[in-house]
Amino acid sequence: MTRRGKVTVVGSGFYGSTTVLRLAEYDIFESVVITDIIEGKPEGIALDINQSRSVENFETKVIGATTTAEGGGYEKTANSDVVIITAGLPRKPGMSRMDLIDVNAKIVRQVAENIAKHSPNAVIIVVSNPLDEMTALAQLATKFPHNRVMGQAGMLDTARFTHFVAEKANVPISAVKTLTLGSHGETMVPVPSRCTVNGKALSEVLSATEIAELVDRTRNGGAEIVALLKTGSAYYAPSAAAARMAKAVIEDAKVVMPVCAWVDGQYGISGVYLGVEAEIGKHGVNKIVETKLTDSELSALKSAAEAVRAARVAPGGIATLILPSDVSWGDGGAPAPAAVGARFSLAEQRRPGIERERIAAIVRKTLAGAMQQGQRLAHLRAMFRIGPAHRHAVEKSHHRSRSSSETA
Ligand code: LAC
Repeated sequence: MTRRGKVTVVGSGFYGSTTVLRLAEYDIFESVVITDIIEGKPEGIALDINQSRSVENFETKVIGATTTAEGGGYEKTANSDVVIITAGLPRKPGMSRMDLIDVNAKIVRQVAENIAKHSPNAVIIVVSNPLDEMTALAQLATKFPHNRVMGQAGMLDTARFTHFVAEKANVPISAVKTLTLGSHGETMVPVPSRCTVNGKALSEVLSATEIAELVDRTRNGGAEIVALLKTGSAYYAPSAAAARMAKAVIEDAKVVMPVCAWVDGQYGISGVYLGVEAEIGKHGVNKIVETKLTDSELSALKSAAEAVRAARVAPGGIATLILPSDVSWGDGGAPAPAAVGARFSLAEQRRPGIERERIAAIVRKTLAGAMQQGQRLAHLRAMFRIGPAHRHAVEKSHHRSRSSSETA
């Protein structure tokens, strides 16, 4: 048997190490690299897994590499065909995935920049949370074409939905087909119209109330496990999903999977990373596969796209997601990357007498205020319209937030 391909998994937490074990046990890759910034941990995990090879009968070599934020140790990952980024913090009970955006954006950006240097042709699979936003960030940081950067979420969310349906309908797991699209968050879109049990429509097997309950449980599938584990988040089902995606890339399998991919025109949605079905091969996403959705499913998918878009410019997310790591506000005017430039044209509208730092602060405050008022989307739309009205709106809200912070 010829083994081919090199896969790197960034991060030696439970998600990373379980993914590496699964990849190694497929026994189809030449090597699997595991990294971490905790000195010795990836080497220890690699040694341990390698010692299981004679028992489990696989030849794939696992290589451990301690890395640094500055890029030390990345030589061992060089020329990987696939890189799975698990780096970052998991949720704690009660947290939403969005609560991780600040801390994980910094980590994911650094990792992605280092990976791009050493594996310029790799396909990237992001699993760090918040997933859709971190996938978008990895694409910006690597500057790879969109098709070579995707996120793992749909496979996992679909697998959870399948499990819940199989349990409820009391049938073998193999009898069930489900589908989940949308974001890997509150705007996840489980798609009951596309689900079957032994080839029969789900609506013929379960009641509308039962289906609604399972949809809800799927949407909260990650949080349910976080609450039970108390430390850390799920990793068995997540690692299974990520490992299958890597396998599809190396084998150039051209299989259709639900993944977080760049959507540009499909479903009438443009320019956003979102959970959709896509054909996966050696270049990552070959194409997005549109499926027939009911009107309400389609409108839920569009809302998910809006939510992901809005999150990219959420407070805190602004600076960390949009600016390259070597640029900070007030640095004398380095332009925001073109990909998000239009969205963030505000920062570029430097009026005489108003410094970037000040504008950035105004934007953050305004958005924070808008979020509190539950008007995030409407407000954002208004904010990002270029022109005097827009500036006026910002100034007004600046005065408002100044006076409210003074009185607070
Ligand atoms: C979950 C995390 C991995 O859904 O996002 O379990």
